[in-house]
Amino acid sequence: MAAYYDNITQQYQQLHQLPKNRYIDAYTYLNLLGELAGKSILDLGCGEGFYTRQFSHLGATRVVGVELSPKMIELAKQEEAREPLGIEYIVADVCELSQIGSFELVAASYLLNHAQTEEQLLKMCQTISANLKPSGRFVAINDNVAQSPESYPLCEKYGLTKSISESLAEGVPITITFSVDGQKFSLYNYYLSRATYEWAFRTAGFKEIRWHQPIVSPEGVQEFGQEFWQDFLDCAPIVGIECLK
Ligand SMILES: C[S@@+](CC[C@H](N)C(=O)[O-])C[C@H]1O[C@@H](n2cnc3c(N)ncnc32)[C@H](O)[C@@H]1O
Repeated sequence: MAAYYDNITQQYQQLHQLPKNRYIDAYTYLNLLGELAGKSILDLGCGEGFYTRQFSHLGATRVVGVELSPKMIELAKQEEAREPLGIEYIVADVCELSQIGSFELVAASYLLNHAQTEEQLLKMCQTISANLKPSGRFVAINDNVAQSPESYPLCEKYGLTKSISESLAEGVPITITFSVDGQKFSLYNYYLSRATYEWAFRTAGFKEIRWHQPIVSPEGVQEFGQEFWQDFLDCAPIVGIECLK
C-alpha cells in the first residue's frame, strides 16, 4: 500500500483540482468538521497534507498528520519547510499506531476504505478512539460502501469510474479510476458493509455514529448548475461519517 501511494504522489495531488473534489468532497468534509479554531486535530492517512494544511489555516492550534507512504510525507514536509505551519508529520501505519496524544478531533479523508478486513478496520477505529479525548469527535469522508454498483456508471461525468470484478462481498476490491487532464490512474478501495463499519466503531468505543450525504457548495452550483450535480448527489459515491466517543 505504501509503495503504491509512493508511486502516484504527483497524480494524487492533481486529483484535488477535480470539480467534484473542490465542490463536493472538500465542502462536505469541512462542513462536517465545523469550527476548527483553537482545536487539536489528528489527520490519519493524511497523504501529502492537502487537508492537514487547511486545518492549520483554519485555526487549529495543534495539527499532526500520520501517513503510511514515506513519499507522501516527504512532500508534506517539503511544503511545511516552504511555509512553516507547525504541523508534525509521522510515517506510520494507522493500524499499528498507539496513543500519540489526546485530540479534540480525529479526521480521515479516504482512509477507512483501505481496510480490507473487519480486523483492519477495527484496528483503525481503535487507533482513532485511543487518540481522542473523552467526548471527542471523529470525522471522515469515505468511499460510500453502500453505493449500488448499478449506479457506478453515473459517476463517469464527474471524472471517476468505479468498478468491481465480482459481486459485492466483504473484502472485495473496488477500483476507482480518475481522469485528470487526460491522464488516468486508479486507487483500490475495499468493500466492507455499513454493518461492519458500525460494528467496528462501536467495538472501538464510539457511542454515536452518523452517516452524512454529500453536499455541493454554492460555488459548485453557480459554476455547473444544480442539475449537473444531481446524479452525484443521488447515487452518492462518497459519504461523510461522524462518530462521537
Ligand atoms: C486516498 S489517499 C487520501 C490522502 C489524504 N487524506 C487526502 O485526502 O488528500 C489515502 C491515503 O491513506 C494512506 N493510508 C492507507 N492505509 C493506511 C494506513 N494503514 N496507515 C496510514 N496511512 C494509510 C495512503 O497511503 C494514502 O496516502
